[in-house]
Amino acid sequence: MLKPEIEDGQVSLADPAFRADVLTGLAARPRAIPARWFYDRRGSELFEAITELPEYYPTRTEVALLDSACGEIAEQVGPGRAVIEFGSGSSTKTPRLLGCTDPAAYVPIDISGDFLRASAAELARGFPGLPVLPVEANFMHPVPLPAAVADMPKLGFFPGSTIGNMTPFAATDLLRAMRTSLGEGAMLLIGIDRVKDPAVLVPAYDDAAGVTGAFNLNLIERINRELSGTIPVDAFAHKAVWNDAASRIEMHLEAQRDATFTVEGRPFALAAGETIHTENSHKYGERGARVLLRSGGWTPVAEWTDPKGWFSLILAEAKPVDLAP
Ligand code: AVI
Repeated sequence: MLKPEIEDGQVSLADPAFRADVLTGLAARPRAIPARWFYDRRGSELFEAITELPEYYPTRTEVALLDSACGEIAEQVGPGRAVIEFGSGSSTKTPRLLGCTDPAAYVPIDISGDFLRASAAELARGFPGLPVLPVEANFMHPVPLPAAVADMPKLGFFPGSTIGNMTPFAATDLLRAMRTSLGEGAMLLIGIDRVKDPAVLVPAYDDAAGVTGAFNLNLIERINRELSGTIPVDAFAHKAVWNDAASRIEMHLEAQRDATFTVEGRPFALAAGETIHTENSHKYGERGARVLLRSGGWTPVAEWTDPKGWFSLILAEAKPVDLAP
């Protein structure tokens, strides 16, 4: 339940965290708003559309990998595990994993309770007899799991290369939090997008049909709607660039002309050419991905990639921490 916030005599019904991130992010230099705010209803629909674009290879590559590696994954993890998914479960990927690993329970963890319950209910219909135990929580921190799975061996699932949307610093914290949530001895199956030619990467985030542009610009619409913003949407353009030094695609909203506006009554001014940084999507090399996992306390034990080497699915294990040189 959202609590109204009162400031300068004005009452706001917006999510206080959204409000704080937008007001702080627009005032900061460089200006930046966290990518998690893309996903209102419209943003989630646009993201679904992105996953089907010809230029956006990650989803279809990962789904094909899950299918082709299914038997080997099942062999490595064995039956009877509690599958713990970090995120609400995708209708294309989760059933594939559950279908091939013969799990004893499925626990999706998500911060958005409504979305979580809806996707858990849909999944449960496809797997009658499988206990589906949704947990509403922020998985960036260690999450207590349901008592019913306490004694089961665990398999974490974090597909989609969502880890790439975090800086390596935050990604390491998340991997460690997952390790604490799942416990020593657990396994983790994670999707990680690979570094490749920017001629492939940039169009994946700047498609010809303009769907990714609409996804990025929808953040402005959301700010205007939920935070009484007056941002002129037509003054901004979607921009996707490859930042080689940081090994990531960056998305920005670039002012095409000088723009002045208010958000919740606060004034802001952007000069033509200034940007608001809205997303990072880090890409990892083969070895870099393994080192990232090890930094978070996960030892890679198996890895699958597509024939072009564009995407990888890595199975890792939370082995006892070995500090020996
Ligand atoms: C959700 N995440 C892994 C997507 C990505 O590829 O970084 C989000 C996205 N942004 C633009 N296109 C897709």
